[in-house]
Amino acid sequence: MTIAAAIPRGLEKLVDRGWLRNDIRRITELIIRCGEEYNPSYNWRRSEAWYRKWLSETFTDRWHYFHVVRSGRVLVAAAAVARSKLENYDGHIHSVFVDPEFRRRGLGRLITERVLQHARAAGMRSVEMEITINPIARELYRDMGFVVVQADDVMALSF
Ligand SMILES: CC(C)(COP(=O)(O)OP(=O)(O)OC[C@H]1O[C@@H](n2cnc3c(N)ncnc32)[C@H](O)[C@@H]1OP(=O)(O)O)[C@@H](O)C(=O)NCCC(=O)NCCS
Repeated sequence: MTIAAAIPRGLEKLVDRGWLRNDIRRITELIIRCGEEYNPSYNWRRSEAWYRKWLSETFTDRWHYFHVVRSGRVLVAAAAVARSKLENYDGHIHSVFVDPEFRRRGLGRLITERVLQHARAAGMRSVEMEITINPIARELYRDMGFVVVQADDVMALSF
């Protein structure tokens, strides 16, 4: 899928699509590079090998999906949806990361929309995500219709 005209000039060569196994190395790099901004209290300092193993296992789970954006040969953004472990929701959105050099160009919004499209197509009726400490991300999700559900400690969206 090639990104639509809504993306600003200068980024026309971007391509977005579902992940392939050979994206795992670069997704790992993005997670390690951006994870602390999402929530520094997590143990983002797990080794690269740990993330690669986790992603390789995840790759074979048909409910776990990453959408990625590539600029030429470089993967610059990723976002994922998995099955929610919480009772009241179908999907769990996680790992929404945009390479710092590619931010403020609509990729964060785009990549989140793509995983939501995937979730809907997979039959999910609602998704949740952990409440990030990142105010930019919180604002983005609020703008996309997510609401804070204090009782579950998540931001949630029903389709
Ligand atoms: C949050 C993140 C994904 C946003 O990516 P992005 O590509 O810069 O976001 P977009 O360009 O799509 O911007 C979306 C909205 O966020 C807001 N925003 C983005 N960057 C902002 C900034 N630096 N200051 C203020 N608002 C900002 C804007 O309101 C923007 O909406 P607009 O384009 O209609 O004005 C990115 O900053 C990131 O990877 N952060 C670190 C990891 C993280 O916290 N991930 C989210 C939790 S999983």
